[in-house]
This record gives sequence, structure tokens and C-alpha cells, in this order.
Amino acid sequence: MNKKIYFYYILIAVLYPVVKVICYINGLVYLRGVIYGVIAGVLTISVGILALKEYDGADKPVWHWLGALIPLIIIPLTPIIMILHLGLRTFLMEKMTPFMVFEGIAVAQFIVAILMFRGLIFKRGTDKQKMPRIGFAIMKMVLTLRSLFKKPERILHEMGLREGQTVLDYGCGIGSFSIPAAKMVGDDGVVYALDIHPLAIKAVEKKIEKKQIANIKTILSARETGLPDESVDVVLLYDVFQMVSDKEKLMEELL
Ligand SMILES: C[S@@+](CC[C@H](N)C(=O)[O-])C[C@H]1O[C@@H](n2cnc3c(N)ncnc32)[C@H](O)[C@@H]1O
Repeated sequence: MNKKIYFYYILIAVLYPVVKVICYINGLVYLRGVIYGVIAGVLTISVGILALKEYDGADKPVWHWLGALIPLIIIPLTPIIMILHLGLRTFLMEKMTPFMVFEGIAVAQFIVAILMFRGLIFKRGTDKQKMPRIGFAIMKMVLTLRSLFKKPERILHEMGLREGQTVLDYGCGIGSFSIPAAKMVGDDGVVYALDIHPLAIKAVEKKIEKKQIANIKTILSARETGLPDESVDVVLLYDVFQMVSDKEKLMEELL
């Protein structure tokens, strides 16, 4: 989905002024509203195209920042402009429908921009280039949100994880799987939480301390696990493999 998401962003950028023109034709907005819509549309279409180019190799995610910033500014700006132009009473009594439509589009575009960041940042988190701190913060947010919809406990349960097993959570991130896995394998089992990123290891260690978990051991490493052969029953490689540059070498290490 990574690159497809840029096209959704550009599609919404085109949709915004088009919807404003339709509203204008139906007498729901003034011409000035259409002009703002066209300005926002042109800006976000350009930013979307440049962000897509950035995905293919630029160092700084400048256009991604702007891609998220413009709809974020539009979200509070829309009611401010409408209220200044129409007055609070008319705005509340007559213009709620177009307002909700414009807000909906801006919010959708902002969410898509966050997903664009995800594509860029997750691509960067390879073993060739360390993920920047801000990238890690965004990844943390995405993983936390993901856990609300895709329960790691359920996935581990479906995998048939059992008590007493030894698990290697390779590329553990913030420990979304390590923590429930530790609970499932119980006191007789152990979970090795390995990650390339020091912030990931720090996040897992913080959770271990907070929840007083005794059967998780953290490993900061880019590939070598340091574990003896045949010492692990289950290796978790969830949402990680795409980031590993030398997949063959990793498989050699894990098999
Ligand atoms: C998208 S997160 C997934 C985290 C976790 N597996 C989950 O699903 O909640 C990917 C994690 O893999 C780590 N990672 C990327 N390349 C790695 C590598 N070569 N070795 C170890 N960890 C790696 C990143 O630092 C990041 O924390």
C-alpha cells in the first residue's frame, strides 16, 4: 500500500476544490471559498507529487511534513474563515453541512499524510540507515494504534503459542508482541526481544520494569542474536522482514 497512499492524497487534493465548486454552484459557499479551495488544492497536489519523489531517495521528509501540515492548518482554518465571513449564527444555523464536508476532506487528507510518513519512515528503518528519533516516535504511535485494531494477543493465540516456549521477537519495536507473548509462555518460558534501534529496546525495558515482567530479555542487535543454536522454539518476524536489507543472511542466522 505504501506508494498507493500518495495517489489517494493527490486524489483528495483534487477533490477538495472540486467539492467547493459544486457547493458554489449550489449556492452553499461564496466565490472566496472556491478560491481558498483552489489554492489548497494546488498546494497539496504539488506537495503530494514532491513527497512521492522524496520517497524515492531524498534525505529529509520536507514534503511529507508539508503534506501533513497543510490539511492540519485547513482543519481549524475552515470554521474560522466561515465564522468571520458569515457570523457565528448563520454558520451554526445554515452552513453545517458544507462545513462537515470540508472538514471531513481535510481530516481524511491529514490521516493519509500520516500514512505517507509511515511508508517513508518504515522504509528508512532498515539496517542500512537508522530511523530518526521523530520517525521512531511516529512508528510508536502507529504501532499503538494498530494494537487497538489488530490485537497481538489474538495473533499469538492463532499461532498456537504455548506455555514454556522460548520466543525470539525479532524487530520487537515497542514490544507490542513481546509483552503478551511473555504472558502466554509463562514463568517456564522466555521471550527474547531483539531490535536494531536503541529506542525500541529502551521502550521494551520501560514496559518490563513497569509491569514487573521477569521472562523478557532484551537484545540490541542488527542481526546476530547471540543465542545458541536450537535454543528458540518460535521466531516472530512481524512487520519487520521488509526492512531487513540482507534477508538471506538473516534467514541463515535464524534457521
Ligand atoms: C514496524 S516495527 C514492528 C515492530 C514489531 N515487530 C511489531 O509488529 O509490533 C519494525 C521494527 O523492526 C526493527 N528493525 C528494522 N530492521 C531491523 C533489523 N535488521 N534487525 C533488527 N530489527 C530491525 C525496527 O527498528 C523496528 O523497531
